[in-house]
Amino acid sequence: MIMCAFRWTRSLQLTLAVIKPDALAHPIISETVHDRILNHNFLIVRSKELKWQVSDSQKFYSEHKGRFFYQRLVEFMSSGPMRAYILAHEDAIQLWRTLMGPTKVFRARIVAPESVRGELGLTDTRNTTHGSDSVASAFREISFFFPEFDVNRWYEEEEPQYRAGPLCYDEEKLEHRLIQK
Ligand code: RTP
Ligand code: MG
Repeated sequence: MIMCAFRWTRSLQLTLAVIKPDALAHPIISETVHDRILNHNFLIVRSKELKWQVSDSQKFYSEHKGRFFYQRLVEFMSSGPMRAYILAHEDAIQLWRTLMGPTKVFRARIVAPESVRGELGLTDTRNTTHGSDSVASAFREISFFFPEFDVNRWYEEEEPQYRAGPLCYDEEKLEHRLIQK
């Protein structure tokens, strides 16, 4: 258990981050991504490993139905376990998107070589991670991966507590949690 102190000046925002099957299959890659999350002071509000059925994958990526990469994306995302995170930070959605780098790995290697996808991505499909791209999609995607998690309630009741701390990091659960005062 590690005690953590954070200084926040603005309210916290939630985003959904996922380590995709290609990356979770390689412990060094998934640890590198996890360390990057912690080193950028994200709070890990929830994390879990899960494996999708093809039907989950189709539902999640329905906006891409009909695109040339849809079938391989759907098959890949249900090919093995992933790790999903609910992350909190002042500007969590944009910060995580920046850390991931561009979607397309060949572009990421050139314009953001130190980003997660630039450094660790294999192909445009096997691009290591996912991240929500807006407040609305973060809400939808968190509810998709963590149906028991109430996003509105978190913002109303827990955000002020997470912001004030103190928090500890549970190395077994891979989550931060509040220390009861
Ligand atoms: P993500 O949703 O995974 O965070 O990625 P994104 O917003 O950067 O990209 P998006 O346009 O939403 O595409 C979703 C996922 O589809 C796969 N993809 N493959 N040309 C291709 O083969 C291609 N283009 C997109 C990627 O895995 C991307 O993350
Ligand atoms: Mg997207």
